[in-house]
Amino acid sequence: MYPAMNSNAMQSANPTWVVVGKGAIGLLAACQAQLRQWPVALWLRQPQPIQIDFRQLTQEHSQHHFSSWPVGTPITHIFIAVKAFDVQSCLQQLLPHLSDDAQIVLSHNGMGTLEPARALLSSKQQLWFVSTTHGAYKADKHQLIHSGSGQSVLAAVTAPPKPDSKVQQFVADALGPVTEVDNIEPCLWQKLAINCLINPLTALHNIQNGELAQAKYQPQLKQLLHEVCLVAEAEGYPLHEASCWQLVQQVIEKTAANRSSMLQDRRANRPTELDFISGFVLKQAKKHQLTLPAHACLYQQCQDAGF
Ligand code: PAF
Repeated sequence: MYPAMNSNAMQSANPTWVVVGKGAIGLLAACQAQLRQWPVALWLRQPQPIQIDFRQLTQEHSQHHFSSWPVGTPITHIFIAVKAFDVQSCLQQLLPHLSDDAQIVLSHNGMGTLEPARALLSSKQQLWFVSTTHGAYKADKHQLIHSGSGQSVLAAVTAPPKPDSKVQQFVADALGPVTEVDNIEPCLWQKLAINCLINPLTALHNIQNGELAQAKYQPQLKQLLHEVCLVAEAEGYPLHEASCWQLVQQVIEKTAANRSSMLQDRRANRPTELDFISGFVLKQAKKHQLTLPAHACLYQQCQDAGF
C-alpha cells in the first residue's frame, strides 16, 4: 500500500475539483484524479474527512483522504455523480455555492436530467456530461474496488462561454480514456438501451448480469431492445439494432460476475433509477404514440415488486 500524494506544483496549476456523490463512480473519479495529483475535495454532510482504501485494476491499493469542501468558498469545478433522481435537488442545493463561471460535470445512468439541470444554471456556468463504462463497487463504506476497465465519453451540454481544458484533463485522469463528442444524446441512448435491458431484469430476478445469457431470457431481451430502438429512432437518434444486440451480449459477458447498479440499489433497500431508465423509455414512447408491451410489462412488474 502507498499513500496517494498531492504535488504542490500540480496543486497550483490545477483547480480543486469538488466531487459530489459517495457512490462507486464518484469515489472512483475522486481516487483516480487524486492519484494523478489533482486536488480533490468531497461535498460531505459532515465536516470530518473520509478515508478510502482503493483497490486499483492492477490490484495495488492506495489510501485516500478526502476533506469536505469548506462552505463559503465558491466552487469552480464540480463533478456530480449522484443518482439521476437526485440531480435536480442536488443542483438546487449547490447553486449558492457555485462560482458564476463554474464548470459542472454530471455523470449517472438513465436520461431525463439534462433539461432541468440546464434550466437551473446561469449562462456563464457550463454543464457537461460524462457517460462511463468503468466498473467499480464499494465493498464497504471505506473500500472501493475498480472491478472493470472502461472508457468515457464527454460532451459539453451547454455551449462553452470560454473553453476550459481543465474539464477534459480531469475527466481523462479520473475516468479515462475519454472521447469528446459534440452531442451526448446518441451516446446516452445507446447506454440507455443497455441499461433498460440489463438493470430492471437483473434487479427483478435478483441475478448477476451473466445470468441473462441464459436462453430463457433471450426472447424478452430481444423484444425489449427492439422496442427501445423504435423510441430512439422516433426521437431522432436511431440505434442499429443488430450492433446494439451484440453490444448487450458483450456487456452481459464482460460484466457477468457484476451486480447491476439497480440490483445493488434493491439489495441495499435504496430507491432505484427505474423511472430514469425504463420509465424514461416509456415516457418518450408515449410522446410518439408508440406502445411498448415488453417495457410496460417489465416496468409494472418492477413497480409491483416495490422498486
Ligand atoms: O448500471 C449498471 O450496472 C451498468 O451500467 C451495467 C452496464 C448495466 C453493468 O452492470
